[in-house]
Amino acid sequence: MKHQKILLLVLITLYFFSCNRKALEPLEPSIIPFPETLNISEGVFLLNINTTIFNQTNFDVSETFLKGFLGSKIKGKAEANSIGFIMDETISNDESYTLLIEPTKISIKAKTDAGAFYAIQSLRQLLPPEIEGQKVFNKPIAIKCLEIKDKPAFAYRGMHLDVARHFYSVDFIKKYLDVIAMLKFNTFHWHLTDDQGWRIEIKKYPKLQEVSAFRDETLIGHYSDQPHQFDGKHYGGFYTQDEVKEIVAYAKSRAIDVIPEIEMPGHAQAAIAAYPYLGCKGEQVKVATKWGVFEDIYCTNDEVFKFLEDVLDEVITLFPSKYIHIGGDEAPKTRWNACEVCHKKIKEEGIKDTHELQNYFITRMETYLNSNGKQIIGWDEILEGGLAPNATVMSWRGIEGAIQAAKQKHDVIMTPTSHCYFDYYQSDSDDEPLAIGGYLPVEKVYHFNPIPEELNEEEAKYIIGAQGNIWTEYMSTSNQVEYMMLPRVIAMSEVIWSRNENKNYENFATRLEVFNKRLDILNYNYANYLYEIESDLSNENKQQYISLKTLIKDKIIRYTIDDSEPNVNSEIYISKIPISESITIKAAVFNQNERLGNVFKQTINKHKAVGKKITINRAPHTSYSGSGVEGLINGVSGSDTRYGDKEWLGFWGENLEIEIDLGEEIQINSIETRFHNGNGQWIYAPKEVQIELDSDKITSSYNNKNQNDLITNLKEETNIKARYIKFKIPSYGIIREGNQGAGQKAWTFIDEIIIN
Ligand code: ACM
Ligand code: ZN
Repeated sequence: MKHQKILLLVLITLYFFSCNRKALEPLEPSIIPFPETLNISEGVFLLNINTTIFNQTNFDVSETFLKGFLGSKIKGKAEANSIGFIMDETISNDESYTLLIEPTKISIKAKTDAGAFYAIQSLRQLLPPEIEGQKVFNKPIAIKCLEIKDKPAFAYRGMHLDVARHFYSVDFIKKYLDVIAMLKFNTFHWHLTDDQGWRIEIKKYPKLQEVSAFRDETLIGHYSDQPHQFDGKHYGGFYTQDEVKEIVAYAKSRAIDVIPEIEMPGHAQAAIAAYPYLGCKGEQVKVATKWGVFEDIYCTNDEVFKFLEDVLDEVITLFPSKYIHIGGDEAPKTRWNACEVCHKKIKEEGIKDTHELQNYFITRMETYLNSNGKQIIGWDEILEGGLAPNATVMSWRGIEGAIQAAKQKHDVIMTPTSHCYFDYYQSDSDDEPLAIGGYLPVEKVYHFNPIPEELNEEEAKYIIGAQGNIWTEYMSTSNQVEYMMLPRVIAMSEVIWSRNENKNYENFATRLEVFNKRLDILNYNYANYLYEIESDLSNENKQQYISLKTLIKDKIIRYTIDDSEPNVNSEIYISKIPISESITIKAAVFNQNERLGNVFKQTINKHKAVGKKITINRAPHTSYSGSGVEGLINGVSGSDTRYGDKEWLGFWGENLEIEIDLGEEIQINSIETRFHNGNGQWIYAPKEVQIELDSDKITSSYNNKNQNDLITNLKEETNIKARYIKFKIPSYGIIREGNQGAGQKAWTFIDEIIIN
């Protein structure tokens, strides 16, 4: 027995002695979000079992996190070979840090605990991904000597999660916080109440737990699928106040502030289901079982304000954050318009209409929260009828709300659907899991610039940051939330942390490849689009070409044009391919031995307008400008299910006039195009379309009566010679009551115009 113990001791000693000498090769730095400056110098630091954490500052969050991360792996006591924290009061940006790696020590210099925490997240990404899953060091780890000086581009860096449409465990919320912390986000916007569920315990109103937290059943499939079908399963849950405290504390231990959202006056059906006096009609309603916008909103009777103040009293004690989000979005005025109490309130307050009543509501809640030391954030509808004096605006329906609010000297957080809605499809592949609609690939997120061009330098200072939103109608599991957030949240981190001049998508993709290994070990379910193919169509000397590219440099593209699936023996793509007739190209990314990504497929239809001249009276909306108006006659049709890809163009409430010049008079046999009709996303096919061939007006037989179809087709057979084809496409107009986006301008989305 004794001999065995001695032998074991000798072996352990030998093991540590030998592994200290054989360190792993240092990695090339691959940090996301990309730091402001990073300078590599000579030599390496060896992180090993003898390394110490040395802290004489009050950076407790950082020290605790680092000990949690490395603690059991390192046991050193001496000041040499240390990771040390230094407080530097002279640093101007509270969140900035310096990370200095020298052969003998690592120094983290910051003004605040948050700054030091970000230094640790950078240090963590200088270590090999494998460390994430290790309990002890198998070998010492060499880290290149370097100096990083870093600070965020924006002070507000948020991620949102809707726990009302679907409910997630406390453990998952922590896992969510873990990954956003690694990416230096500092805010978690927790969407806690909505029509389909109330998810925070409010002790004074127990029915919020008993009634509002549960729904009878849930819609199956997509909202646009008719008729609606339901799963018949009781569903719900809520976070107890102890759990809320636990999550807020967990977030704090990762330098994250939690902003609760308590929706008002709309998205209140779950609360009204428990306490019908909160609604205008005083009638019993059910917790909503499907998605969308509902007409039963909070009334403006005094009992409602008492209820909301009581709720907020409890909320305030749970959340130390400066802000409370009070929603404000999508509140139809149907009930208010028909309510005596609300009309009395309008009279009493000397205001004009129910739109100003919305402002009254929000301002009254703001006054209450301000007097309790809190600031409000609201969705951009809080601009309706005037802005509450101190409110911060979250601009989601585009950037117009942001521009208006910044010009009125209000702080703004950018979350436009076009770049920040991570519930949209990420790829136009048919293999993607069901999502709400839209199309927001990771590259588009990456290229988001939160500062609207319309703002001057002074106004731009009111843009305090941006946020990715995760609405969860179509995410019934946490696994699905992970898939939709990753990799888009990773791209978003660089949007809000890194300088514009430091951003480079190809370089980001290379770092993402490394980051994904970390996510593998940490067991996140991420979507991987690194090995996808992108195409580009061009015209030179009347010849059309297609070029293919993929992001990661050391990979090969192989393709076919005979409709077969590309394999390791298919033609290697070298340079752009001339297109002389209609073809279908299939391509994929390969390494030496195997296919890596999905098969890319593009059909090019060489119809009579391809490569001809096209003009339009309005530029497409900047968020949905696809490949420009020329994209309407490039031979490629958009997705059958998604709008917002390179081929669909979007216009918000505008009447369009499009003219194609074929260059000479030719025989025209048919004219075709398509309109998107995703009414749930406020997209409506036009009611009528007028077509003129030269000066011949042809009455289009087009009609969009079948409003349930996602795509509305236009096809006219003709037998006319003409050179000019002109389309007049009036906007659908204002969305009618009872529909998603009622009262708003409808969007028009148009696809390829095919002339034969
Ligand atoms: C929102 O997406 N309704 C803010
Ligand atoms: Zn009312």
